[in-house]
Parts: sequence; structure tokens; C-alpha cells
Amino acid sequence: MIILVDFGGQTAHLIARRVKELGAQVRVVYPEEAYEKAKEEKPDGLIFSGGPDAVFEKDAPTVDKKIFELGIPILGICYGHQLMGYLLKGEVKAGTKKEFGPATLLIGKPSTLLDGIPDRSIVWLSHGDEVSKLPEGFVENAKTSTHNNASISNENKKFYGIQFHPEVVHTEFGEQILENFLKICGLKIKKRIIDKEFIENIIQDIKDSVGRERAICALSGGVDSSVAAALVYKAIGKNLKAIYIDSGLMRKEKTNFAMEVKIVNARKKFLNALKGIIDPEEKRKLIGRVFIQIFEKEAKKTGAKFLVQGTIYPDVIESAGSKHAKVIKSHHNVGGLPGKMKLVLIEPLRNFYKDEVRKIGKILGLPENILNKEPFPGPGFAVRIIGEVTEEKLEILRKADKIITDELKNINLWQAFAVFAGIKTTGVRGDNRAYGETIAIRAIEAQDAMSANFAKLPYALLDKISTRIVNEIPQVNRVVYDITNKPPATMEWE
Ligand code: XMP
Repeated sequence: MIILVDFGGQTAHLIARRVKELGAQVRVVYPEEAYEKAKEEKPDGLIFSGGPDAVFEKDAPTVDKKIFELGIPILGICYGHQLMGYLLKGEVKAGTKKEFGPATLLIGKPSTLLDGIPDRSIVWLSHGDEVSKLPEGFVENAKTSTHNNASISNENKKFYGIQFHPEVVHTEFGEQILENFLKICGLKIKKRIIDKEFIENIIQDIKDSVGRERAICALSGGVDSSVAAALVYKAIGKNLKAIYIDSGLMRKEKTNFAMEVKIVNARKKFLNALKGIIDPEEKRKLIGRVFIQIFEKEAKKTGAKFLVQGTIYPDVIESAGSKHAKVIKSHHNVGGLPGKMKLVLIEPLRNFYKDEVRKIGKILGLPENILNKEPFPGPGFAVRIIGEVTEEKLEILRKADKIITDELKNINLWQAFAVFAGIKTTGVRGDNRAYGETIAIRAIEAQDAMSANFAKLPYALLDKISTRIVNEIPQVNRVVYDITNKPPATMEWE
């Protein structure tokens, strides 16, 4: 068993998932209780996660130094690595050149942790500070072009620190590093599988919680809510009623449902509520509230006590569902929920990532067109219009979005969409001065929602999209391509 100390990093729970996938058990604890828990439960190893703070700042989360005397192997990742360096009397300082995103790891002196990894490989960084002086007994095993001590070790004590994130898929040999650490801890590697039996257990849990009560579910036609609904349907059958709320903020497409649904037209309600709202967090929370108001009304009609939502793990983490995590954005179905809600939530996918949700859906027999559907945020176009949401802007965005999706439909991407940038610029149309809107294209490649790369689309294709947008939408006279990765940018603009 591994104890993971959660310092609030956005990918802390991804570490837990990766370790579980390798067959080990994981207990996630907070820094302030880490020493006591480690002493009591005697795990085979400890992992210190990343986190948003700087170790040398007042009030930065920390652990009792006695944890280093328990004789347990420790892997520090990013903030966890810096904290180990700092507490063991090395030095940590703000890096002069900040590196976020991909970097090349250059191994100078091999270690057990880096076993089997080539001398040069790609890793993913997301923190500005670095261990500038090693604690006693440690050696530098690898660096990047801007960070010294990117991988350090004290093999005698089995303490290892890495500046980068092995848990994200962008770190080429990340899984190998975690596997090496588990082996250092004396654990046997046995990869976890999602199969029929695993799913039967989830269904049984739902049966036990709902009993003979009724539930309604918020179906959007997307993967997450469809899989959540299918699970609950298997558990309680006809006692589940599915509802689709047409907010007017979703894509113009035939929404394809796997079950019978009641459609509620709430376009006016959403547009009225959004009047004058500019702040992205305010928008998200407000949309969450309007959704819930409608559900509560519908629940009353059906006598439902439970509300099924397709919340998945990244939604929880980015809405700061973990104690030390910072709020990145309030996902409408998590941070957007009112404190006092009459319905009891069932979120069977709360601990899963997108790819796992797809796997569960596949085993449940959901159609491919639902399973492979592009993720689409619940607050929809509202978080893709910078500034106030109006029907006119929505209409422009819908058209631009349709052009982008049409042109990119044969390219395998995580998401591709239009953003209404909210910036007017000067142009020239038919020898006249034009002053029009800007549309940004966002096209991204990713494996899970925590990190992503912008897609390297061919110029000819970008050219075609741009030309179509300015020709077909008279209000738009400029198109830009978003070339930022996540981190530091998020996928959606708001
Ligand atoms: P970000 O913008 O946080 O997006 O990098 C990560 C993934 O999550 C989707 N997303 C949402 N999904 N409710 C959802 O169900 C939301 O409020 C929400 N906000 C973002 C986003 O489209 C991307 O795939």
C-alpha cells in the first residue's frame, strides 16, 4: 500500500489512479496528518504530490520532518520533490527561467528510479521553483535545459525527487518511473482492469444507495451523462427518468440519446439569467444554479429524491474538490451547485477519468457515436464567448463552430471548437473599412482532461477554415489559432 500525500496539485489524484492501475492500493492523506498515518499504517512507500504553493512561503503545506525517519521509501513529485529538498536542508529557490509544459530530461547519472529510461526523453513540467542545492546524501541524476536537479536520489534511504510529473501521459516514460518506484517499495506490479465484474459492483452500490426511491438524471447526450444514466438505469430501471434541458448553449446537432428523455426548453431562462454577466466563474455558477432549479421543479413532478449527474474526476479536481487544490474553474455540475440542494446527488463516475468512462460505456453496450463524442462543457457556448452572452454572439459562434467541426471531422482530436474572443479589430472588405469580431480556433490533442497539446494542423486546412469563417459570417473579420498547451492554458477559454 502506498500513502499519497496530497499537496493540492491538479494532478495529485492522477498519481493515485496510475498507482492503482499498477495494482497497488493507495490511501490519499493531507500533509498535516501524513506522519501519523504513515507511522500507524506502515505503507510500503510514500508519494508526495505536486502542489500550487512555494515551499519557502509562509503557510505552505508541509509534513512533520519525522516522516523521513520511518525508513519508508519516498517519491517526491514537483512540489513534493521541492519540499523534500527543503526539509532535508537543501535549498529551493524560484527558478530563473520558468518551464511549463514539455521539456527534455537528460539523464547524467542513472538511478533505480530511472531504470530502463533512455538518456533523453520528454517530461512534463508545471512549477517554477527548483531544488537549487541538494540535501546531504543526495545526487543529481538528471536535468532539463532550464532546471538542474530535475531528478535526484538518495539510494541508501530510498528517497527520490523529480521536478516533473510522471503521472501525466505527456511524460514519455512516466508509467515506467512509477512502476520502478513501486518495485523499489517491494511491491509486485499487477495492472488494474475495468471489466464486467468491476461494473457489476458499481451497479450494486447504486442499488444499495437508491433502494426503491425514484431518480431523475440530467442527460446531455454526451459520454459522461449517458454512461452515468446507463449505470443507474441498470440499477433501478424504470425508477429513473431522464431529462434533457435545452439551454440554447449547446451545439447545433441532432442530440442522440441512448434512452427515452423528456426535453425541457429553457433557452429564454438561461439567456435572461446570463444578461450582463461577464465574469467566467459567475457564469459557470449561475448556469449550475439554473440547471438545478429546473431539475428540482422536474423532480417534484416525478417524486424523485435523487439526481444523477455525469460528473467525472477532472471536474471534481478543477472545482477544488480536494482540500489544498486551487479552484481553476467551477464545473457547472460541481462548484456550480447551490449549497442547499433538495435533491441527493448520485455521481457514479466521480472517481473516473474520461478514457475509463468510455471503457465502462463500451462494456455497457452504449453506441459508438455516443462513446466517441467530443467532450462538450455543460455551460456550453457560454464559456466560449468572452464577455456577455447574447443571442447575436451565440448565433455567430454556432456558425463558426459548425465550420470548424465540419472541416475537422476526419481528424482524430480531443476537441476542436470556436471561441468568440470578444475583441473587435479593423479589417477591409470590398475596399471598405470593416470593424468586426474575432474568432479563435481551438484544436487540441489529449488523453485525459488534465493536460493537452494544441494540434499541429496543416496550414492549408487552417487557411480553409479561416477563409470560410470570414466569408460565411459577415460579422467576423479575423480568425486566430490558439497555440497554447494545457498547462498553462486550460482547454476552454473560460
Ligand atoms: P478545461 O477547460 O478545464 O477543460 O481544460 C477540460 C475538459 O473539461 C471540459 N469542461 C467541462 N465539462 N462541465 C463539464 O462537464 C464543465 O463545466 C466543463 N468545463 C470544461 C472541457 O470541454 C474539456 O474537455
